[in-house]
Amino acid sequence: MRAVVIDSERHVRVETLPDPELPGADGAIVEVTATAICGSDLHFLEGHYPIDQPVPIGHEAVGVVVETGSEITDFRVGDRVLVSSVSGCGRCAGCHTQDPVKCVRGPQIFGSGLLGGAQADLLAVPAANFQLLAVPDGIDTEQALLLTDNLATGWAAAKRADIPIGGTVAVIGAGAVGQCAIRSAFLLGAATIFAVDPVEARRVRATAVGAHAVPAPGAQTILDATDGLGADCVIDAVGTDASLDDALASIRTGGTLSVVGVHDLQPYPLPALVCLLRSLTIRMTTAPVQQTWPELIPLLQAGRLSVEGIFTGTLPLADAPRAYDAAISRSAEHLKVQLIP
Ligand SMILES: NC(=O)c1ccc[n+]([C@@H]2O[C@H](COP(=O)([O-])OP(=O)(O)OC[C@H]3O[C@@H](n4cnc5c(N)ncnc54)[C@H](O)[C@@H]3O)[C@@H](O)[C@H]2O)c1
Ligand SMILES: [Zn+2]
Ligand SMILES: [Zn+2]
Repeated sequence: MRAVVIDSERHVRVETLPDPELPGADGAIVEVTATAICGSDLHFLEGHYPIDQPVPIGHEAVGVVVETGSEITDFRVGDRVLVSSVSGCGRCAGCHTQDPVKCVRGPQIFGSGLLGGAQADLLAVPAANFQLLAVPDGIDTEQALLLTDNLATGWAAAKRADIPIGGTVAVIGAGAVGQCAIRSAFLLGAATIFAVDPVEARRVRATAVGAHAVPAPGAQTILDATDGLGADCVIDAVGTDASLDDALASIRTGGTLSVVGVHDLQPYPLPALVCLLRSLTIRMTTAPVQQTWPELIPLLQAGRLSVEGIFTGTLPLADAPRAYDAAISRSAEHLKVQLIP
């Protein structure tokens, strides 16, 4: 099969790898029909994590079940499914909360070394009853892809930001995750949202759903717009020292900072005393993907939550190097790129 691989020189290549084998009696093989590039894939390219051998990447997949283990009860060959980007054993107390991050055997993310990558013709899915979801009626491919990761992440970021009804929220980073967080935050009661990004056309995209565009760093503009108080809640959808600094400078005393942007391996110098004196709540979250599905799917189906305009382009899997060049440009024309195997 073909798979997108990042090598130790940090080049993206489409390679031929052996077809994956069924990962045990509770596993399944999915033929990927659509996949996408996430900001998390870009961390590998940007050198945030060491790579000592080529890594098959990608963790967002929609496809068709082509093989099932003997213990698979919920799916059959031919079923159209989406795959949670985060995987758990599906059997432990942690997984029973529907949050694979809490798996006592240790959660794993597809395409980050241990599990296969979703940017491939085929994907081996362990504990498939837990990781797979039959694509629900009325959910299109773009929505299904966003349910595997970015929408679940934006939704969790907003839920964990404790948004007061009528409150003011700053979303730092207007990539696909930030755009999903903005739409989620409005649905959860935000009256005013500041979309902070250095790329003008990306923040302008957020104004289409009612946010105010703010150049990065946003703190001074946000303080000026809130009588010096700052935002009730700040969502960091970037994950750098600069975005965390801006988030802490933008938040009001007693507010909540909800971080979903993934930081590099270097420690962040948290101003602990200031956070304490200002009674801040800080939450950091890896998306509890499966837990978000019962909330997000009816909202999408009912048209109460729209993800229109988040995907900006589609390329064949064979053009993955070009798709990665587009994604890493972080232009507004390439907010989120879909790949078709
Ligand atoms: N926690 C999770 O479960 C989870 C899931 C998916 C993605 N992520 C992470 O979320 C982050 C965003 O993902 P994405 O797909 O939207 O990526 P992206 O790279 O497309 O978006 C990041 C955006 O942040 C902007 N930015 C950079 N520095 C900034 C700054 N100092 N202030 C404001 N904006 C700044 C960029 O211009 C870009 O628009 C990544 O770190 C990714 O790894 C986390
Ligand atoms: Zn991701
Ligand atoms: Zn588990």
